[in-house]
Amino acid sequence: MKKRMLIDTAMLLTFLLLLDYRFVHNKGHEILGILFLVLALIHNRWNLSWYRSLLRGKWTKQRLFSFLVNLVLIVSFLTVMVTGLSISMTVFPFHPHMSFRINGLHQAAGFFMLLSVGLHLGLHWNAILPRLQRSLSLKKSKVLTWGNRMLLLIIVSSGIYFSFDYHVASHLLMLSARGTRSLFSGPGWFLYGHLMIIGLYAAVSYYGQKLLQRR
Ligand code: HEM
Ligand code: HEM
Repeated sequence: MKKRMLIDTAMLLTFLLLLDYRFVHNKGHEILGILFLVLALIHNRWNLSWYRSLLRGKWTKQRLFSFLVNLVLIVSFLTVMVTGLSISMTVFPFHPHMSFRINGLHQAAGFFMLLSVGLHLGLHWNAILPRLQRSLSLKKSKVLTWGNRMLLLIIVSSGIYFSFDYHVASHLLMLSARGTRSLFSGPGWFLYGHLMIIGLYAAVSYYGQKLLQRR
């Protein structure tokens, strides 16, 4: 379990870092992208049972929901990797000049990944939370419950704010994203903003799944 947590955390950190293209530059972005690929291969190897079980068992609404979330994540991940390697400038620069559209597709797939990583984490929140509480030595209490509610409010409001600030919708639709400069610039804010967007979508799938369970 510890090994899984280590890989999951490393994947999340690598993902957030590589997104800050201006901070890590092209070389850093591509190297972190390859590292993410290696971690994701290990992660998928350890979760092979999920792929094997796809043709077995009953399909409830909840199962369909988590399947669709994982499908978007897998398709966007594969698109990011194939397009990334074909436009690479540092790690694999040995390819013919690609059309400008491939860059746009790579970027859009990267933003689809941002949302689907959030949705994917929300599906596993029930398993992640006790692991987090144990590693931070937190015990159940009223203060913790209120703390969780405050945290949720901060995540959702920051997630919505930064989705507009980083023009997430325009990137997903491959539209040019022009607008005012962000009030919150710098790598620290970038990391925070993207983590909050992931948190927002994690909350969407966590509560979405709960709603489906009740029906
Ligand atoms: C930042 C990136 C990611 C994080 C933090 C993450 C986290 C998790 C967690 C916590 C689990 C539960 C089991 C475990 O801990 O291994 C899981 C399961 C799984 N992950 Fe990921 N994951 C990420 C990216 C990906 C990617 C890119 C793929 C596929 C290309 C993927 C495919 C799967 C599959 C197939 C499962 C098992 C099915 C399921 O229970 O949903 N994950 N992931
Ligand atoms: C999880 C993996 C990856 C994600 C989410 C991702 C996402 C992105 C995003 C969002 C951009 C636009 C950055 C910006 O302009 O602010 C970008 C640019 C770029 N990425 Fe990736 N990327 C990933 C992996 C890779 C890999 C593995 C390579 C190549 C080995 C790569 C090569 C590039 C290149 C060359 C650009 C610049 C394209 C241009 O000039 O328009 N990426 N990537």
